[in-house]
Amino acid sequence: MAYPNTRMRRLRASAGLRGLVRETGLRAEQLVLPLFVAEAGAPSVPEGPLELPALTRLSISGAIERAREAAEMGIGAVIVFGVPAQKDAEGTGAYDDEGIVQLTVRALKQALPGGPLVITDVCLCEYTDHGHCGVVHEGGSIDNDATLELLARTAVSHARAGADMVAPSDMMDGRVGALRAELDSEGFTDTPILAYSAKFASAFYGPFRDAAGSAPAFGDRRSYQLDPANGAQALREAVLDVGEGADMLMVKPALAYGDLIAAVKRETGLPVAAYNVSGEYAMVRAAAAAGALDEGKAVLEILTSLARAGADTIITYHALDAARWLA
Ligand code: PBG
Repeated sequence: MAYPNTRMRRLRASAGLRGLVRETGLRAEQLVLPLFVAEAGAPSVPEGPLELPALTRLSISGAIERAREAAEMGIGAVIVFGVPAQKDAEGTGAYDDEGIVQLTVRALKQALPGGPLVITDVCLCEYTDHGHCGVVHEGGSIDNDATLELLARTAVSHARAGADMVAPSDMMDGRVGALRAELDSEGFTDTPILAYSAKFASAFYGPFRDAAGSAPAFGDRRSYQLDPANGAQALREAVLDVGEGADMLMVKPALAYGDLIAAVKRETGLPVAAYNVSGEYAMVRAAAAAGALDEGKAVLEILTSLARAGADTIITYHALDAARWLA
């Protein structure tokens, strides 16, 4: 039946009617707040032109304060990134039991045993002097299989420190299976893996790389991260990660990848996390600072769209603000 019998505007006529039929809601507990924790002596970064408070490097006590704020706002989890003072070719700081992430996780779990959950990003790029996510051979190629062992050691070391969940973001083949096997053999059978499955070689990671000091010293990440043109390949990555034992799957970035959030959810049925990345945060901040849009409304619209596409969990630099705007 069409117009005039059908009038779509009937259910939009009042706030009450709109509320009654709203399909998608947002909850603070589905949000994840990123935290950048720098070791004393980590080289500093020049201030950029934009004010990006969520990308500020924190001390361990600063991270505890921010996580406490997140807990008070009902935010579900934090994801911890480390900025080490020293880097080397093998990224040894990543799997050092006294490394910056390990120390931070222990401090967070001790200070805030009731939450938020602590997720760790498992990767080498913040710890390697060349800035790549794996072991680099002469000539610049990345050794996939040699990297797996280092990633697995990193994940176990995070779990030993008390991480509630580990999230490999390197895009090496076979890393989810390697992490699962090593976690299990070390007794961490109940530590879930959130796989950065559909992670694209994106222009939207710039502010993160400044904050984490993890830009590659040569070349780029296109030999391991996905080509933004490839949706079917991204879906295949997600399905392979399910087979290797992933508990949750991630799509990253988020804004230009709603098709994949929907497809990964539909095809796998697993919980899906969307990572609303640093460049997406910077775009909104820049537009709001210029007076071009209302930051609060724009952010809630973006986060709602990610939930509507199928994201169960959303990693966002706006998590604290969003929780405030929702409350
Ligand atoms: C580490 C990692 C990156 C991001 C999350 N984990 C950077 C990269 O792949 O270069 C980016 C997150 C963001 O931009 O907010 N591999």
